[in-house]
Formats: sequence, structure tokens, C-alpha cells
Amino acid sequence: MAENADMLASSRCRAFLLLLLFVIVIACLAEEREIYLVLMEGDPVAFHRSSVPLEVGQKVDPNRAHAKHLVDSHDQLLKSTLEKGSYNKLYSFKHIVNGFAIHTTPSQAKKIKLASGVKLLEKDRRAKLMTSYTPEFLGLPEGVWTHGGGDRNAGEGIVIGFIDTGINPMHPSFAYDPVNPYNSNLSHFSGACEGGPLFPANSCNGKIVSARCFSAGAQAAATLNASVDFLSPFDAVGHGSHVASTAAGNFGVPVVVNGFYYGRASGMAPRARIAVYKAIYPSLGTMTDVVAAIDQAIQDGVDILTLSVGPDEPPEDTFTMLSVFDIFMLFARKAGVFVVQAAGNQGPSPYTVVSYSPWAMGVAACGTDRSYIGTLILGSGQKIDGVGLSGPTFGNGYLQYKLVLAKDAVKVNGTFPKTAQYIEECQYPEALDPFVVQGSVVICTFSAGFYNGTSTLTAIFETAKILGFMGFVLVANPAYGDFIAEPIPFPVPGIMIPRTGDAQIVSQYYEQQTYRDERGFVIRYGGRAAIAEGRVASFMGRAPIVSRFSSRGPDFIDHNRNPTDVLKPDILSPGHQIWAAWSPMSVLNPILSGYHFALLSGTSMATPHIAGIAALIKQNNTKWTPSMIASAMSTTATKYDNYGEPIMAEGFAINSLYPSTPFDFGAGLINPSRAMDPGLVISSGYEDYISFLCSLPNIDPATIKTATGGTCNHSFSTPSDLNIPSVTISSLTGTRLVRRSLMNIASKPETYLCSVLPPKGVMVSLNPTWFTVAPQGSQDLEITLTVTQPLE
Ligand SMILES: *[C@@H]1O[C@H](CO)[C@@H](O)[C@H](O)[C@H]1NC(C)=O
Ligand SMILES: *[C@@H]1O[C@H](CO)[C@@H](O)[C@H](O)[C@H]1NC(C)=O
Ligand SMILES: *[C@@H]1O[C@H](CO)[C@@H](O)[C@H](O)[C@H]1NC(C)=O
Ligand SMILES: *[C@@H]1O[C@H](CO)[C@@H](O)[C@H](O)[C@H]1NC(C)=O
Ligand SMILES: *[C@@H]1O[C@H](CO)[C@@H](O)[C@H](O)[C@H]1NC(C)=O
Ligand SMILES: *[C@@H]1O[C@H](CO)[C@@H](O)[C@H](O)[C@H]1NC(C)=O
Repeated sequence: MAENADMLASSRCRAFLLLLLFVIVIACLAEEREIYLVLMEGDPVAFHRSSVPLEVGQKVDPNRAHAKHLVDSHDQLLKSTLEKGSYNKLYSFKHIVNGFAIHTTPSQAKKIKLASGVKLLEKDRRAKLMTSYTPEFLGLPEGVWTHGGGDRNAGEGIVIGFIDTGINPMHPSFAYDPVNPYNSNLSHFSGACEGGPLFPANSCNGKIVSARCFSAGAQAAATLNASVDFLSPFDAVGHGSHVASTAAGNFGVPVVVNGFYYGRASGMAPRARIAVYKAIYPSLGTMTDVVAAIDQAIQDGVDILTLSVGPDEPPEDTFTMLSVFDIFMLFARKAGVFVVQAAGNQGPSPYTVVSYSPWAMGVAACGTDRSYIGTLILGSGQKIDGVGLSGPTFGNGYLQYKLVLAKDAVKVNGTFPKTAQYIEECQYPEALDPFVVQGSVVICTFSAGFYNGTSTLTAIFETAKILGFMGFVLVANPAYGDFIAEPIPFPVPGIMIPRTGDAQIVSQYYEQQTYRDERGFVIRYGGRAAIAEGRVASFMGRAPIVSRFSSRGPDFIDHNRNPTDVLKPDILSPGHQIWAAWSPMSVLNPILSGYHFALLSGTSMATPHIAGIAALIKQNNTKWTPSMIASAMSTTATKYDNYGEPIMAEGFAINSLYPSTPFDFGAGLINPSRAMDPGLVISSGYEDYISFLCSLPNIDPATIKTATGGTCNHSFSTPSDLNIPSVTISSLTGTRLVRRSLMNIASKPETYLCSVLPPKGVMVSLNPTWFTVAPQGSQDLEITLTVTQPLE
């Protein structure tokens, strides 16, 4: 027997060695494959000039013929340049961009880069969701409820495209309403409904007009997990459903979580249609799938494109505005589509935006006046505010219960493998004495485990359920300082006390009331406490406040963060604590699993508010270009809060605020009703964006031609001459003249008086100082800036 066991052991050992050798051999022979995005010379279908008129009887659609020609040319190029079997083409892009994506080795990619007809080659950067996935503790969220959110016709006839994690087709926010059926046909839109796992082919119900799934990039870059990475438009994460319902979810859907009714949710444009382009999977997302989705969405005919996804870092090897992603957004805009993009979640440091280009609307996030405040009531009558969407302890806060510090309730002589911190964080039910904690309000202490991510609120919920806590209190720990707590639904009564000052009040009261023997063991627990209802919103706070996590400007042109003369972010919108639809599978966020709604934060949540409002503007003004819509939003935004004071922003320190600037909020907080009727617009077109690029210092015309195909015949004298509703100058010296052209889009002549609040140290003069402009007429405005007091 013993011999056998030995042999077994040694043969296992050999197998292990062999395996190792095998791995090493592979590593020596094969280069890792990567995904590369390649742009080609030659017009894509949307901008193809030689549109041959159809002859009588001719059946061939010239667009289809051109698309086929492009695909053939990609295949031909690959076949003639690369060794057979050394690559795998993932996509041909043909509608707004001529190019393709391949999965191949760096040495093969080099060959492609040198092949004739190839303009640009870029390695895939991964795509991220612009949400924090720790609604528990990371400084994210505060939200708004889209009160009202428009009437039952709002957004009718407009299609919003969502490039995200898919959609939960069973959610009431996306249900077809037989009482109020859609009766207009969408002549400008033609999508498809790709069925698949958990997504029956009949899921496109009129509200959801199209649903597609892009996975070639994800499948090339990783081994997908079939139990979470569904190859269908089904949303296993929740993010895509959240974003889609914020922009275009049905009107007045009741939000019920853990049996509690929080109110009703509506999208900003509840009658807009939803076109789903799933490109991000729980295991990963690639830019390849994202840009393939953009190409398809524009071909399908979406009016608005929503990107709460993207790379969360600037490109390493190219200019921020000339990455393949930004080029796709440029051509989406050229095709007449309004593109909205999350500004990023890397605030509050400056130079953290991930939206760079003036042709996409980059959205910053703020909180609203709504907050959820929980209350801990001590036996002494003291009331302490905290956080947690929790019901009250039994007795609705009026009955009080024994207060027990988890550390004091540790089983005597118990054997537990975990550390002391782990026990005081209430992570480990086996460690606590059930006779002490059952029916008690137990104090758990925020400690190392929450910082290093090994401890979770979910484990506290479990401990509380198993041991029958009446409630729990998670208190800040002076050794670690205050923490940031975001409300999430608690399945058991509980409260988080995130400020150490408040936590000390709790611990002083507890120590005063607790009697110990000489060894420190508790003889009698005299403290009492109750937890009050924490699920009812109050609407009293200062708002908006730019959220800490929201990425900040200034905008920059390369990964060295050289500033550039465009204002980013563009606009501010609610993105902190937003209630919206969820997917109960919630595979990236177990704490939210089983829920149909979630309260989330991130610029991901701010972005669809702007998409929905763009749908309302477009519905009302069907002829407006994307640039006009962007201008209308910017010129009507407000820079003041509900106290009538300049908007504040959250700083690094918890609870710290500073007076914000356009690098925090762009033009200011969106004002949907004023944006419908802006009077004037300041707009630009595709050619202007090329002229703008050509005027950027340190980018040569060949680079711009390579990336965009545009030639630098008409470059501006400075980039700040781009006709947009802001003026940004990164290093102003002496005097600078900036011109803007304003167009009257009102139906009658209007007279304007011009005034300016100059930035510190700069004198600004305007010419003219007043003007009258006819309907559809335009007026030039000269803005002269002179430095009077150079900055230190
Ligand atoms: C929409 O299209 C269908 C099928 O093409 C047609 O039967 C119907 O009359 C159209 N409805 C409207 C309101 O145009
Ligand atoms: C796939 O996902 C499931 C569910 O999250 C998980 O239990 C399983 O371990 C995963 N499989 C792999 C190979 O990662
Ligand atoms: C705990 O262990 C100590 C020493 O091993 C022993 O003296 C004591 O009686 C034990 N207490 C209980 C409650 O088992
Ligand atoms: C995290 O903190 C817990 C509790 O202090 C500790 O037991 C654990 O070893 C830590 N883990 C890491 C990876 O640091
Ligand atoms: C556009 O909005 C204005 C003001 O909100 C409204 O009076 C007008 O009827 C709307 N026009 C269209 C075409 O919906
Ligand atoms: C720019 O110049 C190039 C070469 O001189 C010319 O072919 C092209 O038509 C010009 N483009 C425009 C928009 O003037």
C-alpha cells in the first residue's frame, strides 16, 4: 500500500514537471497574440462619394456592394501579407470607418502596419464600465431620482443606442405598454434582434427595438465563462439595464427592493426606443467590441449613442483625440449622431477626464438634494446619523435592545482561524457567542478587512441572520479615519456610522453602560439602542455638488497630460445615488444580487441623463445637428446650486467642499427645459474639427491625415478658434483674440446684450457688446483676452 502511494506521488510529480516543461516550451516558441485595430485608406460606406445612380432594373444596392468590396479588400490584404493561420480577423469595420480588427502576434502586426493601404494600427486597450462596483464604500454615488422625467410622449420617435453590458429584457422599465402602443414606424432605423442565452428572439418588443451582441474581441482576449459571459444581449451585470432605464426607461415604474417601496422611476425620455449593443462582458470588455458596436449602431440609424464605457486611461502611443475610439466617435458625429460619453471616475485629481474630444459630450457627475439618512438611537436619547437603506429594528425605533460590541461577544476558548480584526468586523459567525448577540444590536468595527477588500457588508448580513442579531451598527474606527458609506439596501436592520467622531459617541456610551470584571470580561451589558427607519428619502441637501469621483479637467492631448484648448468635462448631470433598473443576476456585484433596482453612482449614471435629454431636444427639433444640441445644453446650463450660490465640488478629504470651476462641471448643470429653447447656438461641423486638430501644436498634418483622412488646408490660427460654446486657453500670455459665430435659431429676431465675468488676472472685452440677429441669421462675436496679472 505504502509503495503504491509513493508511486502515485512520484508519478504525479512527474506529470507536474512535464506540464511545467510544456508551458515553458510554449512560452519560448509562441509570442502572445494581441488584438489590433487597423484603419485603412478608402472611404467607408457612410461617406462614400461615388454613389452610382441605380439603373432601371438594377438590383444591387451600391452600399451593400461597397461594403462587400471593403470586406474583400481587408481579407485580400491579410491573405497577401500574413502567414496563413497566424491571425484571426475579428471584424471588418465598414460603415463609418474603413478598417478591421485582428488577433495576431506583435511580429505579424508589424507587417500589417507596413502594408500598403494601412493608415494606422493600434493595440486594443481594454474597455471599462464607468461605475464604481463598490457602492458600499468607495466614494461614489449620489443620485437623483428622475422625478417626473417627462410626459408619456417624451422621446417618441427617437432611438437611443446603448453600448454596454446588454439589457435585462424582463424588466418592467422596458416592458411594452399595450395601453399606449407605439404607433409611429421608425423609418430611419433598422436593427435586428439577436436571440441567445436568456434572451429570447422576441425580446425586442417595440420599446427595445434592436439588440445585438459583439463578442469577437472578448472571445479572442480571454476564455469567457459560459455561466456569466452570455453570448446574447442579456445583461448579467445590471449596468447596461441601469443606464438604459435612466435614459429611456418606461414612465412611473414602481421601485421595490426587499419589499420596500422607494417610489417610482422614469427614464428622462420614457417614450424613446432602446437599441442595445452589448460589448462588455463580466470577464472583460475590449475596445474592439466597442468600436464594432459603434459602427453597427450608426449603420442601424440610432439618433443618439450612449457610452458609459471606454478605456479608463489615455492612450500610450497616440494623441488622446486620435485614438481609434475617438476617431469612431468623430465619424459617428459626422454621420449626424449625438455621442455622449462618461467623463470618467478618477476625480477629484485634475487631468483625469477620459473624454477628450470636442465632438463627444463628456459628462461629469453630481449629487442631488435627495439623501437617505439612517438614525441610531441610544438608550441615553442621543441620536446619531448614519447610512444604510435599512428598515427599523422591531418596534420602529421605539423599543430598545441590548447593545453589544462584537469584540466583547467572542466565544470563550473558541477555536477560530481568523484574526481579531476579522472578528470585530462581524465577518465570522462561528466566533461570536450566540447567547450574547441574539436579539441584540451588535457593534461591528470598520477595520483592515474593509480596506484590503477581504471583508464585506454581505458577510455582516450573513452573520446577523445566522446569529439572529436584532440589528448591526458598523462604526468607523479612529485608527483608520472616516470612511465613505453609500446607501445600499440592507436585508437586516443596520446602520453604518462612517464618521469617527460619531463612532466615538457610540463607544463612549457603550463603555459607560458596560460593566466588566478585572480581566476586562463583560459582566453586564447595560447599553441600549434602536435603529430607526432609513429608507425614506429627504430632499433638503445642497445640490448639485460635483461628486468626488467625477473626473476633472483640464483636457489634455497626450499621456504626458499636456493641456489642450478644449473644455472638459462638457456638462454636469446627476450621477450620484441613482435608482434605476438592475439585473438580479448581478454577477459583478453579489451584494445587489436578487434585486430588480439598484442605487448606483458613477459618471456612467450621469451620461444616460444627458442621452435622454438629447432625445427630448431632438424630438422637439428634428433638424438640429449634434453640435447644435450640445450647444443648446451648454449655453443653458446653470453654474449655481439650489442655494443660489456657485456650485461646490467634493475634494479629497471626506466631507470637504471647494468652489468648483468649469474643470469640474464644464458648462454647468444641465437644465432640460431651457435647453429646448436656447435662442442662439454656437456650432461646428466635421470640417471644423479637422481644422481644430490641424491647429493643435505638436501634431503634424500627416498624423491627422492618417487618423482621420482630413487634410490641413484650413487650419485655425489657434485651437481656441473652434466654434464651441466655451473658450479654453491653456497658457495665455499677452493678448488673444478669439472669434465665435452665433446663430439665431429662434423663430423671430432677437436682441442680445453681451457681458462677461472675466477670470482672475485677465481682462476680457467683447465686440459687439449688443446685437440684433434675424431668425436663422448669424452674428460674429470677437472676444479679446488680455493678461493683466500673470499667475504666480
Ligand atoms: C408601420 O409599418 C407597418 C408594416 O410596414 C404598417 O402596416 C403600418 O401601417 C405602419 N404604421 C404606421 C403608423 O405608419
Ligand atoms: C464561472 O462563473 C461561475 C459563476 O460566477 C463561477 O462559479 C465559476 O467558478 C466560474 N468559472 C471559471 C472557470 O472561472
Ligand atoms: C478556557 O480555557 C482555560 C485554560 O485552558 C480554562 O481554565 C477555562 O476553564 C476554559 N473556560 C471555559 C469557559 O471553557
Ligand atoms: C486583510 O485584513 C484582514 C483583517 O485584518 C487580514 O486577516 C488579512 O490577512 C488581510 N489580507 C490581506 C491580503 O492583506
Ligand atoms: C417644442 O417645445 C416647445 C416648448 O417646450 C413647445 O411649445 C413646442 O410645441 C415643442 N415643439 C415640438 C415640435 O414638439
Ligand atoms: C486640400 O488640399 C488638397 C491637396 O492640396 C486638395 O486635394 C483638397 O481638395 C483640399 N481640400 C479642401 C477641403 O480644400
